[in-house]
Amino acid sequence: SMGPPDPILGVTEAFKRDTNPKKMNLGVGAYRDDQGKPFVLDCVRKAEALISSKQLDKEYLAIGGLGDFTKSCAQLALGADSEVLKSGRNITVQTISGTGSLRIGANFLSRFHSASRDVYLPTPSWGNHTPIFRDAGMQLKAYRYYDPSTCGFDFKGTLDDISKMPERSVILLHACAHNPTGVDPKPEQWKEIADLVKKRDLLVFFDMAYQGFASGDIDRDAWAVRHFIEQGHNIVLSQSFAKNMGLYGERVGGLTLVCKDAEEAKRVESQLKILIRPIYSNPPMNGARIAATILNTTELYNIWLEEVHCMANRIIKMREQLAANLKSEGSTHNWEHVTDQIGMFCFTGLKPDQVERLTKEFSVYMTKDGRISMAGVTSGNVGYLAHGIHAVTK
Ligand SMILES: Cc1ncc(COP(=O)(O)O)c(C=O)c1O
Repeated sequence: SMGPPDPILGVTEAFKRDTNPKKMNLGVGAYRDDQGKPFVLDCVRKAEALISSKQLDKEYLAIGGLGDFTKSCAQLALGADSEVLKSGRNITVQTISGTGSLRIGANFLSRFHSASRDVYLPTPSWGNHTPIFRDAGMQLKAYRYYDPSTCGFDFKGTLDDISKMPERSVILLHACAHNPTGVDPKPEQWKEIADLVKKRDLLVFFDMAYQGFASGDIDRDAWAVRHFIEQGHNIVLSQSFAKNMGLYGERVGGLTLVCKDAEEAKRVESQLKILIRPIYSNPPMNGARIAATILNTTELYNIWLEEVHCMANRIIKMREQLAANLKSEGSTHNWEHVTDQIGMFCFTGLKPDQVERLTKEFSVYMTKDGRISMAGVTSGNVGYLAHGIHAVTK
């Protein structure tokens, strides 16, 4: 029988059919420049030229991917002087972007984490988390995360729910720039979460799809991941280079498992290979070469840091302009959450009927939960967006 269309990619289809010249696609989370155009980073273009000049071969990669990439991928997340890296107690494999990383991680837990098949997701979470873990054979559970009354973090609800999770369950945490809400715990709150998670002896699965995209600073955005590791959590970590390097279609990601020692890491590696081999045999090389070249070439790395910073800043600026424009439109609602939230998405608080009107009357396309991708907002259309939002919320 015919299956339903994907809820996010379906929004893009409807957008393409719309002939209104003012139409806006705020559904999919892909960065756009201030002219609304897809953005290829300068460091990526330079890395491509460098790779091309080397006339490299196209032999298969190893099952776990490109060594130069996996090493620097783990280093980017954990920090150059991470004790875990020094003692070799991590295994990092190259994956098919963040989605592939989450799926291989979920498959691994489903096969080997015999203590529990329960995985707790925040409410709400990225829409794809549910089918990823479900299809891998995990049992889905939920914990409170977002408070609709404040459009902010439900810290108490999160702690309450964690304190009731059965020991050794898996908890999924968004490392930064929570999708879809843009609501992140503060460092002090992360500390309490880490302590409680330890008390419950939970296994932490961090999804870090936006390192650098939240604050513009790659180290600041990795703070929670590094803190948990410092506190003795042997985490599972998914990384994506889709957003922070703009390598969406190249499908570049990494999966890291922090183990108790180097010997355990070797055993885990052997099982990851056995898991990956019948799924896609080995990962694609082009994007990994680009990412590895950027991460391992000082000049390109510095350009990249600057470009990540610029992308994050443009989004922060658009948040400010959206809030200011709503005010000048005459909206009396509290829109503080628009600037308090962080990362690519803004959870506007719009109700489904308001979303429907915004789409029908203003050709502004977004997901039904009221999430907009701030990356699709520009100085040219932010006024129009504020006008539309005010019209459907007054
Ligand atoms: C929270 C989260 N995790 C993972 C991903 C994975 O994306 P990709 O597979 O393109 O790296 C995304 C992308 O939107 C995301 O928002």
